[in-house]
Amino acid sequence: MIEQLRAIVGPAHVLTDPDVTASYERDWTGRFGGRAAAVVRPANTDEVAAVLRACHEAGHAVVPQGGNTGLVGGGVPRQGEVVLSLRRLDAMEPVDTVAAQVTVGAGVTLAAVQQHVRARGFDVGVDFAARDSATIGGLVATNAGGERVLRYGMTRASVVGIEAVLADGSVVSRMHGLPKDNVGYDLASLVVGSEGTLAVVTRVRLRLVPLLTERVTALLAVDSTAAALALLAHLRACLSTLECAEVFYAAGVDLVCAATGRPHPFGTNHTHPAYVLIECAARHDPSDELMAALATVPDQAGVRDSAIAVAGPAREALWAYREHHTEAINRAGVPLKLDVAVPLAVFAAFEAELRATVAEVAPDAELHLFGHLNEGNLHVNILAAGDRAEALTEAVLTLTAGRGGSISAEHGVGVAKARWLPLCRGAADVAAMTSVKRALDPGGILNPGVLFA
Ligand code: MLT
Ligand code: ZN
Repeated sequence: MIEQLRAIVGPAHVLTDPDVTASYERDWTGRFGGRAAAVVRPANTDEVAAVLRACHEAGHAVVPQGGNTGLVGGGVPRQGEVVLSLRRLDAMEPVDTVAAQVTVGAGVTLAAVQQHVRARGFDVGVDFAARDSATIGGLVATNAGGERVLRYGMTRASVVGIEAVLADGSVVSRMHGLPKDNVGYDLASLVVGSEGTLAVVTRVRLRLVPLLTERVTALLAVDSTAAALALLAHLRACLSTLECAEVFYAAGVDLVCAATGRPHPFGTNHTHPAYVLIECAARHDPSDELMAALATVPDQAGVRDSAIAVAGPAREALWAYREHHTEAINRAGVPLKLDVAVPLAVFAAFEAELRATVAEVAPDAELHLFGHLNEGNLHVNILAAGDRAEALTEAVLTLTAGRGGSISAEHGVGVAKARWLPLCRGAADVAAMTSVKRALDPGGILNPGVLFA
């Protein structure tokens, strides 16, 4: 089969040397990975189709991979699969300024698309810290969320078309960018968020949003998660330009400052229980609107301090406290990473329960919480979990499901949470999902072990 793959993509693009394949075989947190039979790097959709046809005929499992920034083990091999790297599918078509859409290859990074469309006065509705490495195919496969969900929704809301290759090598395509197209099942939507288990995304047509050049960012120190939520509710009601509302806590700020050498946001002697980072964006300076909204925050609302930035570098300095969390945590060790969301009505109580649960199950572990406030989405990062990782996962996910939450808000189920799928999906749901999987991938070659344990 390796010979066949060499004939399809050229010998230079079938990698088997362990020194060369190593970076494709482990996720960047260092938590997940295994050996690959080979890493195959096709150049276009036809080559992807031919590779899948060959693997399908040989009954050989395939793990599709984009920028390898996933956090749930869904994009790295487990036991001898072929890694199908989509990075060479990096073509970008000119921006369709009339439709406000663009078609790009699955292997293009989010940052590259942003740069491409911003030059024409547009923007992508999705953004997050891993933008320089994460690829559009990966964003689509995981229905990535990020920092602008409040305004523009998850990746699914930005996708108007998909070209994808099914397990047997057949190509499905819906690339005309029709916002209205109700002809039968919406296969494109089904592929979004399917984590490489139903099809391999090769090209994507994205709906674009206007480029909002005027931005103002505010970092607010607050008493508690309850205060953070009350503040968000107030600002959301007053601000027509609100785009982001992120939350993080004292321990995370300490870690980020230690890792990056940055000063504490409001001075070393002023660490606060919780922090809310908000950003407003518009065509005209949104500062006045933000200032007016902040001026009407009630005195007893629990806001302790604030910093506001308009200029690019000053805004980036505020964002750094939020966006460096992942990297700072990783520097401290290999974390157990969970990604949960609960309804905002129970969010504050849940945060306290979560801390108590982790302390009870693993008293020596170090917990870091941060995330996307408006969606009730907390990234639960646990360092020094030791042999308690499994027990912690069980406890945190069970608590989350019990509060009406999701055990995977935006990172996907991957292999990390496959065992716990039934916590959030009933037997009929799982049966329907399994039927779809069997129908599209009868040989089970696409990303086995992901989503379904
Ligand atoms: C984030 O919001 O920064 C990402 O989801 C990454 C992470 O959770 O580590
Ligand atoms: Zn996130």
